[in-house]
Amino acid sequence: MAEIAKLQIGDRAYEFPVTKGSENELAIDIKTLRGVSGGVITIDPGYKNTGACKSAITFLDGEKGVLRYRGYSIEDLAEKADFLEVSYLLIFGELPSQDQLSKFHSDIKDNAIVDDDVRKILDAFPKTAHPMGILSSLTSALTAFNPSSVNVDSDEEMYRAIVKIMGKLPVLVSWAMRKINGLPLNYGSNSLGYVENVMSMMFSKPNEEYTVNPIVRDALNKLLILHADHEQNCSTSTVRIVGSSHAGLFASLSAGISALWGPLHGGANQAVLEMLEAIKEDGGDTKKYMAKAKDKNDPFRLMGFGHRVYKNFDPRAKIIKVAANQVLNDLGIDDPILDVAKSLEQEALNDPYFVDRKLYPNVDFYSGIIYRAMGIPVEMFTVMFALGRLPGWIAQWKEMRLGKEPIGRPRQIYTGETLREFKNIAQR
Ligand code: ACO
Repeated sequence: MAEIAKLQIGDRAYEFPVTKGSENELAIDIKTLRGVSGGVITIDPGYKNTGACKSAITFLDGEKGVLRYRGYSIEDLAEKADFLEVSYLLIFGELPSQDQLSKFHSDIKDNAIVDDDVRKILDAFPKTAHPMGILSSLTSALTAFNPSSVNVDSDEEMYRAIVKIMGKLPVLVSWAMRKINGLPLNYGSNSLGYVENVMSMMFSKPNEEYTVNPIVRDALNKLLILHADHEQNCSTSTVRIVGSSHAGLFASLSAGISALWGPLHGGANQAVLEMLEAIKEDGGDTKKYMAKAKDKNDPFRLMGFGHRVYKNFDPRAKIIKVAANQVLNDLGIDDPILDVAKSLEQEALNDPYFVDRKLYPNVDFYSGIIYRAMGIPVEMFTVMFALGRLPGWIAQWKEMRLGKEPIGRPRQIYTGETLREFKNIAQR
């Protein structure tokens, strides 16, 4: 029998159905609350208890540290899959056959040219511009060169929009980095795999042939997979809510990129590395910074620690920690930052403040160390996160549009002035 939730407001009682997910998660369905109660709403700043949608894409259990895409464990996918396979899985729901994957890749390659006029927009940015601002702007600019809205009732149009952005975003990502590094803009090569092509576009120099380092390739593949989706986080919710007004895919993605930029979200990977650098420069006294993080009068937070949903080890952080060690060993890099990171982690895991609040390292705690070892500038870290998150955003946008979800429009409790009389300026 379906479960029922009962709500009593004053002397009036209401009943609401309880809905259940495929992993037995429960939610009280309050869709009718406002109507039946004469205007009562729920309030939940930060949406800590609010499910905004039903979704069949990603499952995560923050208490147990479980993350799955379309039912496949993140550990399996990071170990055995290729980023393009995972992208297909997220967007279309199933792992592709070899033929499906080849067609997907070939269609992406056919769309991997960005209109040359976009270069002029990039040229207009100062060299000091943050690449996340550049990426968000250029993604938005793509709407000028491509249809701004997609007829979602046409499978063909939907597919075309998907392969377009899967082809073009890596070009924009690499251009953002080449601008920082003062390198001429390029287009990579259609003879390379998706991840290899990203590397070639980012790192190749005009005066030497670029060879892909397989260790770096594997680490980047893993990082992109680990970042590919994470259910209803801040940027994904942004993509869904912007898309819910029937704004186009590229416009919705551009908004998602802006949301990801913030240091409490994707911007944390840059913030982590800057924090580790600062601690090292300050003599490496991790205890001093632990004390600052615990001091409520000090705004300092231990970046890369804590998560809205994980109250256990972020499973992605476990995988990344191993990968960071591997990449640094394989490339023969002795990075003192890794020692600072390890001792901060050890201290936090044994400190009652962090233990009581269930603050564990999150995905961003180690990713910057790998990106740095790869030769990626620190301002580019969040851009790399955006590249990885692209298939997740697309999948969520597609699910929201095909599910015919209504426009996202929360309500509020008004706390301002009640009606007052207007006074002319001379009387104020
Ligand atoms: N350092 C010190 N204290 C912390 C930290 C931290 N990193 N994170 C949380 N806390 C404390 C808070 O001060 C609060 O303490 P209190 O209960 O005594 O007031 C308690 O832990 C709960 O924290 P909230 O901020 O309420 O938790 P919330 O779920 O709102 O925030 C967030 C989660 C934003 C990730 C937070 O932990 C944080 O700021 N972490 C650092 C930034 C970071 O690494 N962000 C990346 C997240 S992963 C991602 O987006 C890919």
